[in-house]
Amino acid sequence: TEKPTWSQRFETSLHPAIARFNASISFDIELIEYDITGSQAHAQMLAHTGIISPEEGEQLVTGLEKIRQEYRQGQFQPGIDAEDVHFAVEKRLTEMVGDVGKKLHTARSRNDQVGTDTRLYLRDQIQQIRQYLREFQTVLLEIAEKNVETLIPGYTHLQRAQPLSLAHHLLAYFQMSQRDWERLGDVYKRVNISPLGCGALAGTTFPIDRHYTASLLHFDNIYANSLDGVSDRDFAIEFLCAASMIMVHLSRLSEEVILWASEEFRFVTLKDSCATGSSIMPQKKNPDVPELVRGKTGRVFGHLQAMLVIMKGLPLAYNKDLQEDKEGIFDTVKTVKACLEAMTILLREGLEFRNQRLAQAVTEDFSNATDVADYLAARGVPFREAYNLVGKVVKTSIAAGKLLKDLKLEEWQQIHPAFAADIYEAISPRQVVAARNSYGGTGFAQVKQAIVAARTQIRAE
Ligand code: ARG
Repeated sequence: TEKPTWSQRFETSLHPAIARFNASISFDIELIEYDITGSQAHAQMLAHTGIISPEEGEQLVTGLEKIRQEYRQGQFQPGIDAEDVHFAVEKRLTEMVGDVGKKLHTARSRNDQVGTDTRLYLRDQIQQIRQYLREFQTVLLEIAEKNVETLIPGYTHLQRAQPLSLAHHLLAYFQMSQRDWERLGDVYKRVNISPLGCGALAGTTFPIDRHYTASLLHFDNIYANSLDGVSDRDFAIEFLCAASMIMVHLSRLSEEVILWASEEFRFVTLKDSCATGSSIMPQKKNPDVPELVRGKTGRVFGHLQAMLVIMKGLPLAYNKDLQEDKEGIFDTVKTVKACLEAMTILLREGLEFRNQRLAQAVTEDFSNATDVADYLAARGVPFREAYNLVGKVVKTSIAAGKLLKDLKLEEWQQIHPAFAADIYEAISPRQVVAARNSYGGTGFAQVKQAIVAARTQIRAE
């Protein structure tokens, strides 16, 4: 029933259900400020190149700025009839400044416009997510600094393997998020290229200056090919991929926190501020935060998959399929920020490591067996021989219900004459950790250096 926004070739209006189906205003309103900024640059360029007069340029820029204010004050809430954010702004501009508003879309298409908006949006969001990553890294470092000498069982195959410094364990996540931070920086380079001026697909007949708009909008470069410029969504896929990687890392940490909080591990206690109860079981305290993060990981992966599938069969250049990029991107941004924030709070104040329980945990297993083999190997026994000897000791100890530290010196010496009284020190959990002083290892000296390096890394931007 509404008169169509587009050209006079349309005689009848859209079926109301189709209008709703087609419209993106309900979600692309998120882009409004970027759309306004992009349009202001375009208007300035039109004036700069003489395509419109300087006064007209001025009127457009000021009018657009007023729409920004209206929007911020909640006075501009375009409805479904506007179709999308681009039409909404253009329509409002014409209402405000009159006929000159109709000049704004000279030498431009919604295709290069929406591409510009999406890039401006992602550019901003990438920087914000990097800030959230820094907060997350900072709290990891803070806990690491306090726990260099706190020991925690280390696992492979979720079987006790070798004890670790808790700081070393947390620094592993620091390193993952450092790569996430760098990866976003790499994505940024390919987000920060301007498609503005590519037109609908083929460029324009007007003497525009694409470099001028690009520099006004602080783009590093412009697309060299107009078809590519309007239809490229590689940058979005790359962003979704980098976001997915962040979620992989958060989800792995979440899984560990969930395990650690269980009665089976008892490595951490969840504080009331970050845990929830059960509606029926009065004793329950559930790790909802890491569970939700682990769960939300699925939807971010889904958005990446959706974007890949949207793109795979698209002929050049713009197709309406591309309108489907937005909700996934917006939801990813929102989800990643929320998860980083929640995990940062959880680590900062929602979680307490049970140091006594951890200290006990590292003494109750055979995770010092490698050190017995290393002890012999350091005294000239070929490692594989030492390994086999210790395997037998482990077997007989398990049968006897003993741990390695329970063996008497005579028993050690019957196994091999190279054993001396210092074997007990060598297999104490503290020494087992301290001794792994190879670069990047869990030895306390290494961990202290790693913390210093990590601090430097996040300071130097
Ligand atoms: N709302 C559209 C989108 O998000 C804007 C571009 C529309 N272009 C077009 N030729 N229909 O992709």
